[in-house]
Amino acid sequence: MTQPTPARRLDEFKPDARFAWCVTGSGHMLEESIALARRLPGVDLFLSAAGEEVLPLYGWTVAKLREHFKVFRDNSASSVPVGMIYNGEYHTVVIAPATSNTVAKCAYGISDTLPTNLYAQAGKQCVPGIVFACDTAPSVITQTPHEWVEVRPRAIEFENVERLARFAHTTVACSLDDLEAALDQRLSDLKLAWNTSSS
Ligand SMILES: Cc1cc2nc3c(=O)[nH]c(=O)nc-3n(C[C@H](O)[C@H](O)[C@H](O)COP(=O)(O)O)c2cc1C
Repeated sequence: MTQPTPARRLDEFKPDARFAWCVTGSGHMLEESIALARRLPGVDLFLSAAGEEVLPLYGWTVAKLREHFKVFRDNSASSVPVGMIYNGEYHTVVIAPATSNTVAKCAYGISDTLPTNLYAQAGKQCVPGIVFACDTAPSVITQTPHEWVEVRPRAIEFENVERLARFAHTTVACSLDDLEAALDQRLSDLKLAWNTSSS
C-alpha cells in the first residue's frame, strides 16, 4: 500500500500563514469553538451554508464575526477560496464544531461545501487538519437556540468518527479539552503562542 506523504514542512508555508478555521451548522460547542478560535493568532473563518444559518441563532451574525475575523462564506459551487491552501497561506485547517454531516463527508472523501473542500484539499497538500467531532458519546447534552436537549448519536456517527481518525495528517478531537490540546500542540509545532487577549 502507498505510504502517506509526510506533512508539509513549516518552511513550505508563507511566513504569515494562518489557521483556516471552518464553522459548520452545529449549535453544539459553537460558542466554545469560537472562543478558542479568538485565542489563536492569525485565524480566518470559513463558513458552511448551514453554518451561516445557524451562527446567528446563537448570536453570531457574519457582521459580528467580522469584528474578530476575516470571514469567507460558502457562496461558490467550486469553493474558490480553497485555492489559498495551494499557495501556502494556511498552515492548518480546523473544523470546529463539525456536524455529523461534515464528519461523514470528510470520512468518505466528499467535498461539496467550503469546510469539506478545505479539509480534502488540505489532505491532498499534506497540510494538517484538526476536526472537532461533537457526536462522540452515547449521550450528548446540547444547547438549541432555546433549550438544552439530549442527543443520542447513532452507530453510524461513531463509525464515521473512527474512520476519519485514521486519515493521514488528521487529528480528531472528541471533546473541547481534546481540541484545545490539539491546537496547543500545533501552536508549539509552529513556534506560536496563544493570544493573551481575545479582543
Ligand atoms: C439550530 C440548529 C442547530 C444544529 N446543531 C447541530 C449539531 O449540534 N450537530 C449536528 O450534527 N447538526 C446540527 N444541526 C443540523 C445541521 O446544521 C445540518 O445537518 C446541516 O445540513 C449541516 O451542514 P454542514 O455540515 O454543511 O454545516 C443544527 C441545525 C440547527 C438549525
